Parts: sequence; structure tokens; C-alpha cells
Amino acid sequence: MAKKLKILIFPDPRLRKVANKVVKFDKSLQNLANDMLATMYDANGIGLAATQVDYHIRLVVMDISEEKNDPKIFVNPAYKVLDDYKLFEFEEGCLSIPGFNEIISRPDKIELIWQDLSGKEHKDCPEGLLTVCIQHEIDHLDGKLMVDYVSSLKRDRVRKKLLKDFKRK
Ligand code: NI
Repeated sequence: MAKKLKILIFPDPRLRKVANKVVKFDKSLQNLANDMLATMYDANGIGLAATQVDYHIRLVVMDISEEKNDPKIFVNPAYKVLDDYKLFEFEEGCLSIPGFNEIISRPDKIELIWQDLSGKEHKDCPEGLLTVCIQHEIDHLDGKLMVDYVSSLKRDRVRKKLLKDFKRK
């Protein structure tokens, strides 16, 4: 049975760690992916990076379908921006920054490579929401957060608010 994991909340310093490449494609990797999916669905998220649940390996889960019945798992995902990209604006949220939504611009054309849970390699040029979502999640693996795209004034305001909420609990 998949279990729910605790999601780290900004400004937790563990969210700034850079994740290591996955080299072992074993049962424990499958279990972690399943636990992350359960955690993401429970929190009504559309994506979750292992960093957010304090596992510092390059693993991302995602489900951008309306019906929440299309789980995707990306191991060691990486992308390069294609030459003819445009900036695509999308209002993003993050399970590690509750209550904060912001319009972020990201390239709309990327070539994505990743591995599945068996270690098999895949390559695709995704479109639409998946493109921005995977960039957001790969940022997590590199210790980068949505708040890094906004002014330091706004970032401090979010930090203070979340620290206050955290103390109240
Ligand atoms: Ni996020």
C-alpha cells in the first residue's frame, strides 16, 4: 500500500538541495514513486518532485489529466529548449508554497529525455501544460523554486507568511 509522505514547505532549506541522479532501478524506487503519487493526489497537486518529500534523487511524478487517472513517472528527467520556442505564461502553484500562485513565463518548446522505472530511456517533445509542469519539477530537483522567479520583496513576503503559519501549527 502506498503511503502519504510529508511535503516540505518553503523556506525549508532541504528544498534547496540538488538531487542526485538515479542509478538503481529497484523496488524501493517503485515504492517511492507510488508513495509520491499518493501524496500528490491527496494534496490535489498535478506534480511532485522527490526533493519536496525529502528524498534527494532525480524522480518526478505528475498527473495533468482532468480525471486524475493518468499518472506519469519521470526518472532523471532533463530537457533542452528548442530554438523556435516562445515564452508561455501560466499561473503556477506549488505544494511546497501553499497559498502562493504566480504567473511564470517558461519556454513552450522543449525536448525532454527521461527514464522509466525500469531504466528504459524515452525522448519526447511535450506540448502545453506538461511542458511548463516538467520545467517546474526539474527546477525542484535543482533546488530552485517558483519564488525565485519573482521579486525579492515578494519572496520575503511569502517567506514571512509561511513561517508565521508554520509557527501557528
Ligand atoms: Ni512545486
